[in-house]
Amino acid sequence: MLVALLPGDGIGPEVIVEAVRVLDALEIDGLLFEEAPVGGAAYKQSGHPLPEATLDLAKRADAILFGAVGDPACDALERHLRPEQAILGLRKELGLFANLRPASLFPELADASALRPEIARDIDVMIVRELTGDVYFGEKGMRTTEEGLREGYDIMAYDEAEIARIARSGFETARARRGKLCSVDKANVLETSQLWRDVVVEISADYPDVDLSHLYVDNAAMQLVRDPGQFDTIVTGNLFGDILSDLASMCAGSIGMLPSASLDKDGKGLYEPIHGSAPDIAGRGKANPLATILSAAMMLRYSLDLVEPADRIEQAVGKALADGLRTADLGGDASTEEAANAVIAML
Ligand code: IPM
Ligand code: MG
Repeated sequence: MLVALLPGDGIGPEVIVEAVRVLDALEIDGLLFEEAPVGGAAYKQSGHPLPEATLDLAKRADAILFGAVGDPACDALERHLRPEQAILGLRKELGLFANLRPASLFPELADASALRPEIARDIDVMIVRELTGDVYFGEKGMRTTEEGLREGYDIMAYDEAEIARIARSGFETARARRGKLCSVDKANVLETSQLWRDVVVEISADYPDVDLSHLYVDNAAMQLVRDPGQFDTIVTGNLFGDILSDLASMCAGSIGMLPSASLDKDGKGLYEPIHGSAPDIAGRGKANPLATILSAAMMLRYSLDLVEPADRIEQAVGKALADGLRTADLGGDASTEEAANAVIAML
């Protein structure tokens, strides 16, 4: 089993190193790692954020463990050379259309949530975010209006096949959880969203056992803060899912805690923390590696069929937190390395 390691930029390399130490500690037979540069780091080495060799490795590997991309030093580059294009390119090239972003609260972290503990306590939601379409991948550009003004544009579009396939991921996910699916759109304003809602309703005929509801995205954001416990599974488009998953992460304690899986139609996946490269704290040993360690657990579970070691990692994280482990984002002073040590000690 080959795992591609793509550390990327900022705190990416620091958190990947620690996740690999945790995986090594499990002594899993036949687990091999191969590393390649991606994002700003790759651009600096070879002039492109997603070099051919990196894409090849990602295609060859059984699963991909990804750190983060984003580097302020690259902000002035043409868009197709910016670090973010690496992750967008990987998602598109590998057909990773289904992004699973679980947000639940380790009970020990109730005080770290941005919400009052009695509200935060109940959060246990899986956000199923479409990842290869929407305004992220529509036609985009800069042009000049008739009045001579600069105008930027990004086309939002979904065809019915794209919606149907992520809707099915949403229904399947809900079915395996508590049987409740909330589809989030902006059908009161957007045609893209009207089609989204129509197709989700059509697909729901195949899932009579799943309780389907719909929310506009603005209301969904409000409800997630007001009463996150009402949600089981959320299915939504690429842009709304990006925003709602950051929001949900703060309800669940810290953005440094949330893992994610991005899956293709056969279950091959890329696994990454939902946080970014955090250039402000990069290189200082302050980053919370738990989101990446938990992403490694998701990788074992979803792509490598290693359920028992995945459980062990998740339980060890819970025990380490119960034992008092807190990185800076959680109000403590454990370093990145100490955090991983605490998890390894509990394995
Ligand atoms: C995420 C990130 C990415 C996104 C960026 C880095 C392109 O915010 O994975 O949520 O917008 O999808
Ligand atoms: Mg995001």
